[in-house]
Amino acid sequence: MKIIRTAHYEDLSHKAAQLMIEKIRSNPDMTLGLATGSTPKGVYAELIKDHLENGTSYEKITTINLDEYIGLPSSDPNSYRYFMNSELFNHLNIPLENTNLPNGTADDINQECMRYEQLIKDLVDIDLQLLGIGRNGHIGFNEPGTSFKSRTHVVKLAESTRKANARFFESTDEVPTHAITMGIASILDSREIVLLASGTAKAEAIRRLVNGEPDEQFPASALKLHPNVTIIADEEALRLVQ
Ligand code: F6R
Repeated sequence: MKIIRTAHYEDLSHKAAQLMIEKIRSNPDMTLGLATGSTPKGVYAELIKDHLENGTSYEKITTINLDEYIGLPSSDPNSYRYFMNSELFNHLNIPLENTNLPNGTADDINQECMRYEQLIKDLVDIDLQLLGIGRNGHIGFNEPGTSFKSRTHVVKLAESTRKANARFFESTDEVPTHAITMGIASILDSREIVLLASGTAKAEAIRRLVNGEPDEQFPASALKLHPNVTIIADEEALRLVQ
């Protein structure tokens, strides 16, 4: 597991974006696995800036996101589809039909999970998967206790995760109770993984990830079983790691 130390959030966003841009330029039809949340916002802003200034093209890129809330249509500003369109896709030359998120309003959610897992297989592996990390070690919406063998599935969100995400909603009650997420095994199938972490709130999770052993009670520790993982984190998130 490689660690890239960055001074602060802007530095983290810049370094992560540079790493992605280099790969996109050398492999213009790659498949990118993407995440939502606060952490990757700066990276997405840098990708847009680079696209406008340097013309990096996303015309042949395919994206696949980790997760989506159940019950929120794409028109809902709290849906992850809305987030991805407004934070990234609408500002790049990527055809929207090349961008994939689970459909949280599908009539048959179990069927939707199977469709999404098949999609990951059809894409013949994700070249680069971007991840954030929850304070409890969740990756995607895989909460503590999720099997490392899990594939795309429905999850009941932990109360701590709903509270953490309530900042985007009017109240915690409005945060959906369930989501669809790529499983841990689906994530580990990616060729390369880049995990981002910023701020002191993530310091304990990063300490546990770097120093701990694989343990299903701490989902991110599954990354220890993957041969090509880079953590890009700022000083605050790395303050408990020597
Ligand atoms: C989002 C996702 C989550 C977040 C995690 C950290 O697609 O999969 O695992 O990466 O909750 O969120 P932030 O970046 O908001 O701290």
